[in-house]
Amino acid sequence: MTMEVGILGATGMVGQQFVALLANHPWFKVAWLGASERSAGKAYRDAAAWRLPAPLSDDVAKLGVDAATPGRAPKLVFSGLDSSVAGEIEGAFAQAGHIVVSNSRNYRMEADVPLLIPEVNADHLALLKAQAARNWKGRIVTNPNCVVVVYAMALAPLRQFGLKSSIITTLQAISGAGYPGVPSWDILGNVIPFIGGGEEQKIETETNKILGTVKNGAVQDHEVKISAAVTRVGVHNGHTGSIAVSLDQKPDVDAIVAAWNGFRGRPQALGLPSAPAQPIVYLTEQNRPQPSLDVNRDGGMTITIGRLRACPVLDFKFVALGHNTIRGAAGAAILNAELMHREGLL
Ligand SMILES: NC(=O)c1ccc[n+]([C@@H]2O[C@H](COP(=O)([O-])OP(=O)(O)OC[C@H]3O[C@@H](n4cnc5c(N)ncnc54)[C@H](OP(=O)(O)O)[C@@H]3O)[C@@H](O)[C@H]2O)c1
Repeated sequence: MTMEVGILGATGMVGQQFVALLANHPWFKVAWLGASERSAGKAYRDAAAWRLPAPLSDDVAKLGVDAATPGRAPKLVFSGLDSSVAGEIEGAFAQAGHIVVSNSRNYRMEADVPLLIPEVNADHLALLKAQAARNWKGRIVTNPNCVVVVYAMALAPLRQFGLKSSIITTLQAISGAGYPGVPSWDILGNVIPFIGGGEEQKIETETNKILGTVKNGAVQDHEVKISAAVTRVGVHNGHTGSIAVSLDQKPDVDAIVAAWNGFRGRPQALGLPSAPAQPIVYLTEQNRPQPSLDVNRDGGMTITIGRLRACPVLDFKFVALGHNTIRGAAGAAILNAELMHREGLL
């Protein structure tokens, strides 16, 4: 039995990844597409500037795009809405009884909204109970900022060593800015040391919530102190982070690599359709990970890490990479919905 699903912001960069990833999904079937007034009333093939290498399926190409108002969409709705409108629209959908699984930043830091990476904090779904106090018949679940998914997954297995502080410098792909995104004149042969929308602050706050623990129905943030600096680089897909950490204990390099390679979570235990068999893979080659070689590993759902070595300022430093529109956005949201489905929350 497949469940019909909708996509809000279906025409955008993340929306297109939803369409592509759901094309052959064993549980979910795309039945409704919503976007702005600019797209409403058009067939999807005419409304979306399709940017993905996988061909657009005929079924979805001919679906009509609807206005982003609740009423006609299925109960489960994925959202890749622009954050300038996501707060109001996602709230209206939740109020009307939809389960909204969102990529946007608007609700991530609300105390009663799970900010989920199923391998790391599946138990944060317990926060959903508190949403009953809102004027909502439905619910909202969010996935993190696209860098934070990579970063929090890399840090999660290090909690056992007493994770104290961390510094991250990112090299972020142009697909992270949506389409058409950054003008070619600005990005070709260039590095831009700023990303709008409070990117650094998101990294410095969302990570602590995700790594935190649920106590008495609320998340107690992890105490790791974080300093983030972000850059946009001329890479199509894949956000890279150069990361340093300080730890209370002093494990050796082998113990850290074993913690990463051995890391598993609920998605692997449940055998969820989008779950990578090994969520974090440590690459031993000196010059890896690289976006052009490693970003699509296991359908873009695996985080790759490399270059673990001693850091003369903190304790260790390394490089981590993840696919920003798959593991960092649409694939993350689909994995969240798969977990909710298996936990009886849909
Ligand atoms: N790209 C990434 O790597 C990434 C990763 C994680 C999270 N995110 C988040 O995901 C969201 C989407 O990002 P994106 O890169 O896909 O952006 P995008 O390519 O600019 O797409 C934005 C989508 O929002 C729709 N939209 C804009 N204004 C609207 C309105 N007034 N009413 C209804 N729909 C409206 C657009 O529809 P029209 O085509 O009709 O204008 C489009 O479908 C953002 O919140 C972003 O921060 C992105």
